[in-house]
Amino acid sequence: EPKQPIVRGAFIVMEGLDRAGKTTQVEKLANALYESGRNVETMRFPDRTSPIGMMISNYLQSKSEMDDHVVHLLFSANRWEKVKHINDTLAKGCTIICDRYYYSGMVYSAAKRNPNLSIDWARAPEVGLPRPDMVVFLNLSTEEAAKRGGFGDEKYETSEMQKNVRENFVALKDIPADEGQDLQVIDAGGSVEEVGKAIWSQVVPRVEEVEQGDFSESST
Ligand code: TMP
Repeated sequence: EPKQPIVRGAFIVMEGLDRAGKTTQVEKLANALYESGRNVETMRFPDRTSPIGMMISNYLQSKSEMDDHVVHLLFSANRWEKVKHINDTLAKGCTIICDRYYYSGMVYSAAKRNPNLSIDWARAPEVGLPRPDMVVFLNLSTEEAAKRGGFGDEKYETSEMQKNVRENFVALKDIPADEGQDLQVIDAGGSVEEVGKAIWSQVVPRVEEVEQGDFSESST
């Protein structure tokens, strides 16, 4: 029986705290979707390969200093510069699995607790970006995160930042915009296989819906 033509690919985002296993699970999910016969592309933000991305990378490695608002706007611009690519990729029937998106953007900048950088301020430059069809939030308890070894060397990998990031992700559910409702929480505390299975069972039905045209065209 011939397959129906695909209306468009699905835009799936993986979010979570540092060390929740996002990058591993993005690869695993993309491979499994590919093996199921789909076109699939992985992306990540920040995309450090563009000139804007290189500025962000230097900042994260403490090679440069920047005002909190400036770096926030660079993270946002780093998404905006990929919008055409995202839309073109989905339109040709290719599914995108993306490691972080504007949820991290809002939550990390606001986690700096700069009194002039609220979550609402952080959201403004993200408004109008393509809205994902599903956001998987890999949730990791503080205890489990601690077991996974020490922090890396980058700017935000401190216990204070990570604590605030966690609080902000939880608080996202209560903001009036849709961001909180987008998050599908999955416990990332299990083995790579267990977490992978949980992700697969959430994501596949959504990918199938989108491929068949069951989605509303929307942006933030
Ligand atoms: P990475 O470790 O996934 O490459 O992300 C680098 C850091 O940047 C990580 O601590 C999360 C943070 N981040 C932001 O602060 N704002 C953003 O918009 C994104 C995508 C990531």
